[in-house]
Amino acid sequence: MGKIKVGVIGLGSISKQHIQGYLHNQDAEIIAVADINEERAKQKAEELNITDYYTDYRELLQNNEIDAVSICTWNNSHAEIAIAALHAGKNVLTEKPLCKTVEEALAVEEAVKKFPDQFLQVGYVRRFGTNTQVLKRFIDNGELGEIYYAKASCLRVLGNPGGWFADTDRSGGGPLIDLGVHVIDLCWYLMGKPKVKSVSGNAYQKLGNRSNVEFKSFYKAADYNAEQNTVEDSANALIRFENGASLMVDVSFALHTKKNEISVSLYGDKGGADIEPSLEIFTEKNNIMLNSTPQIDHLSFNFQKGFQNEIDHFIRCNKGEEKTIAPVEDGVEMMKILTGVYQSSQEQKEIRFD
Ligand SMILES: NC(=O)c1ccc[n+]([C@@H]2O[C@H](COP(=O)([O-])OP(=O)(O)OC[C@H]3O[C@@H](n4cnc5c(N)ncnc54)[C@H](O)[C@@H]3O)[C@@H](O)[C@H]2O)c1
Repeated sequence: MGKIKVGVIGLGSISKQHIQGYLHNQDAEIIAVADINEERAKQKAEELNITDYYTDYRELLQNNEIDAVSICTWNNSHAEIAIAALHAGKNVLTEKPLCKTVEEALAVEEAVKKFPDQFLQVGYVRRFGTNTQVLKRFIDNGELGEIYYAKASCLRVLGNPGGWFADTDRSGGGPLIDLGVHVIDLCWYLMGKPKVKSVSGNAYQKLGNRSNVEFKSFYKAADYNAEQNTVEDSANALIRFENGASLMVDVSFALHTKKNEISVSLYGDKGGADIEPSLEIFTEKNNIMLNSTPQIDHLSFNFQKGFQNEIDHFIRCNKGEEKTIAPVEDGVEMMKILTGVYQSSQEQKEIRFD
């Protein structure tokens, strides 16, 4: 089998990680790129030394040489592009979140089912972090026992990037759909993907984007406009699963607190673990409480390594060597959770999925 020929759609910030991943994979070759921003598409094609660049992704999909695509566009186009790519015979790696709504997620799932020889991988890159892979091995070997509770926080003090991130129409929401998706998925995946039973959540718009703050810099999207912001600035939720397990989460783009924070912990009846900010496992042996720190390269999520692992896995799946560990169903369950939190907040009641 020759190299897997790849097209990359959407050429902003995160596409750089995908492109680097493919360039460092000897079984992959990028042969086309697309972005609605023509200048960006042209420049990227030049950089990659390829001639095929498009402003309309549908033209890229017509290229029969392409086996697989990476979708790195804004959230509002993930579903449409994924469905079109599947219909065009391509395998798909789409950035998180899978899409904006449960309806869209179900439509993508239907398209995946229609083409059983193809697959779609959701860009849950944190599943590919060394800390996650190592902890998963301990969990699979029963070291934590039954995981009945998990807790995740991803808090930014001053971190609304503006641009499309702050525009609900293009993003589907703020920190919940942007940051929450990562940490909720990480817990859910390591808990063994239990079926969600109910969600109770709150989304707040109290501080806005804090564009008034002076003497403190933060990441801004290319088209940052301080006046435009329609997303929540923080959210929290309690998620219950059918097996009785629960997950508590809170996230923010803006919050009056001391510093940015990421913490993800799991609690089982035989042991517990912190994944972030740094992997550590807590057990009991000989009636002694024991804290263990694995000796591994990356105790915290390493962006570059995580993306390389994700892309390498995607390519192996394309070659038929592995089955994706982040299938479309996992995107659908996540969209139920995320949109459930927004609905719960709006209606001020628990949303049940029975
Ligand atoms: N996995 C991660 O850690 C991670 C991190 C950042 C962003 N993301 C995800 O990646 C996606 C892109 O985010 P970003 O930060 O790169 O945004 P970005 O704005 O930097 O880049 C998006 C690019 O997509 C292009 N685009 C938008 N709609 C398009 C369409 N219909 N057809 C072709 N091109 C289109 C835009 O012109 C832009 O160049 C989002 O879904 C985001 O959630 C994931």
